[in-house]
Amino acid sequence: MSIDTLFNPKSVAVVGASRTDGKIGHTILANIIRGGFQGAIIPINPAAKEILGLPCFPSLGECGQEVDLVVSALPQSLVKTVVDECPKVKAKGLIVIASGYQETGPDGAILEQELVELCTRRELRLLGPNCLGFINTANNLNASFAGDMPGSGDVTLFSQSGALCSVMLDMANDRHMGLAKLVSVGNKADISGVDMLAYLAKDDDTKVIVGYLEDIVSGKNFIKAAEDAASNKPVIILKSGTTSAGLKATVSHTGILAGADTAYGAAFKRSGVIRADTFESLFDFASAFSLQPLPKGNNVRIITNAGGAGIMAADAVELAGMKVQEHGQNERKAAIQQPQKIFKPVNPVDILGDVDPGVYVTAIKAAQTDSDVDAILIVLTPQAMKRPAETASAIVTCIDGTKPIVAAFMGGHETTLLRKELVAAGLPLYKSPERAVAALKAMGEYAAWKKRPPRTVTRFKVNRRRVERILSRRQRTGMLQLGEVKGKDVLGAYGFHVPTGALASTAEEATEIAERIGYPVAMKIVSPDIVHKSDLGGVFLNVSNRESAEDTYDLMTLKIRKKVPGARIEGVYVEKMASKGLEVIIGMTRDPQFGPMLMFGLGGIFVEVMKDVTFHLAPITEQEAIQMLKSTKSYAMLQGRRGQSGVDVVAIASGLQRISQLTTDFPQILELDINPFIVGEFGSEPVVADARMTLAPLPEEK
Ligand code: COA
Repeated sequence: MSIDTLFNPKSVAVVGASRTDGKIGHTILANIIRGGFQGAIIPINPAAKEILGLPCFPSLGECGQEVDLVVSALPQSLVKTVVDECPKVKAKGLIVIASGYQETGPDGAILEQELVELCTRRELRLLGPNCLGFINTANNLNASFAGDMPGSGDVTLFSQSGALCSVMLDMANDRHMGLAKLVSVGNKADISGVDMLAYLAKDDDTKVIVGYLEDIVSGKNFIKAAEDAASNKPVIILKSGTTSAGLKATVSHTGILAGADTAYGAAFKRSGVIRADTFESLFDFASAFSLQPLPKGNNVRIITNAGGAGIMAADAVELAGMKVQEHGQNERKAAIQQPQKIFKPVNPVDILGDVDPGVYVTAIKAAQTDSDVDAILIVLTPQAMKRPAETASAIVTCIDGTKPIVAAFMGGHETTLLRKELVAAGLPLYKSPERAVAALKAMGEYAAWKKRPPRTVTRFKVNRRRVERILSRRQRTGMLQLGEVKGKDVLGAYGFHVPTGALASTAEEATEIAERIGYPVAMKIVSPDIVHKSDLGGVFLNVSNRESAEDTYDLMTLKIRKKVPGARIEGVYVEKMASKGLEVIIGMTRDPQFGPMLMFGLGGIFVEVMKDVTFHLAPITEQEAIQMLKSTKSYAMLQGRRGQSGVDVVAIASGLQRISQLTTDFPQILELDINPFIVGEFGSEPVVADARMTLAPLPEEK
């Protein structure tokens, strides 16, 4: 059944409408009345004949009319009786305020499950339990105890935490931000975050969706709903807590480097969700998206009445990856012709000290008509505050809505006083240039995401059967760690170039293999008990003749036996030395909610020390893979520097796409590292120098 009837009922009953001012049931009834809801309002309380001037009924069944929405303000132990009564009044929606469910532990979780099943049988959509209710300004319905009715607007806030719902309402009021809806989803027993996204995406009253979430239960559904919603309108989410991915034991580099929160970042990026890190930025972004159009590019014009503030703004713009846009020819000419009247044609435009408000207007108009300017940042310091209202009024008169304009009015109380007028006129106001720039950046990124080309995931021709055989055999025998030999076998079947090599179990065999494939060779210990073989002296490179091959075999096995007594040594892998190139790491770690997360990083200190790595959810497109590379700080190294030629970035992207295909095809691969992946110049084939994988146990072995 649709959620819409819940938000747009013709009649509302409050069961547990208390006679006592201050109790939750009383507050909800009072809020519904005070909010101005025009439908029928029916208090239910067996102990009262009338509450707040309305006739009161002993039970739902006795109210003698149909009720679309029932708000249960009774303790948890009585909620079932309310649900049982709902069919008598043909109710379609139920809000359960009571706590005492899943949030209290396993017993509460069972009660919650029973409540959901009961509601489903009664064809009721359930909001909560353990929630504050909701506010819908479109029909003046405040079915909550969150606070007073906010002004109407086009931003909808939804929150998992009831307490933070009240905070959000307070912050919205403080910022004069009009709301379409405020929804406390509570324990999300029936109506989930995903349902809210799907509903709000189509809700005509909502232009900007803002959410606070503590967990996401189904990663796949979330990505789909968020992407659909974000394709329609901006979705801004503040997410607290972390996934369990970061907690699980991991042996791969990729797994270790993936922070507990990486999967959410990757999921939000994929689905176009704008992520806010604090409540401040949640509201900063919401007000920009609500009041201003999206930028067409990233050229920003700064207009300031203080040089220092202008420099701060310019720094913030550049740090955010946008450009401080220079003036066009026409403006330069105009400035030369009227040197007394107009500011200098430089960016930031410094209109100086306590200027006439009209100068701001001239500068804003010039920026609005300059086709090279995509966004405008107005910075104002209190020097002009002798005529604050006049300055603010002058500024708002000239906003033509063609490109985004944000204002950073620096200072304290005086600037806050201007907020109401500025926001009413559609100008988002920030306390610092940095916060205004962060809002512009969020808008620019969202605009770019909306223009993204259609996603086409390449399917490579691979030997899937071979991998199936290797993996199922390993799972059956419980040997879930795939070292270099088997790892390379799997990767070879998925089109990776693996150096020629073979396993030797004696020094003689090692030399035979080396002679056959040709020197120089690499020799590596093969043992299911050794994960980091080079740390233990289990890797020798550039072995260049028969004698050293023989000695290396003996020395290596001796050393390893001493260092790791009892380690099962299967032999030494002898393979052709890879030709020189740049060492990078590509890999995958599987997030329980969001699936395979691909990783790229440049080898050596870039990964080990600087942790300069990026992640992306599979399946990945070529363009997304290249974007992954570009987003690392070490990307310049891939392009070549100091006379060195660059490496084949398309080949790295292809490696990432192949891992994406492999790990999407085989969900039993939990982790995978190709480290190092040696990449050469354009056109050369990158080489898997070492590889490792971890498989999931077969279900019955869990
Ligand atoms: N039908 C209708 N009304 C009934 C009733 C029934 N079968 N049985 C009792 N009532 C009346 C009570 O008499 C009382 O009215 P009164 O104050 O006029 O006597 C009213 O309903 C409320 O019942 P009461 O038992 O007093 O409940 P309460 O107000 O103490 O607590 C909750 C109810 C839901 C607020 C409480 O149980 C709870 O869960 N609190 C936590 C809520 C919360 O934090 N939610 C999450 C927010 S994020």
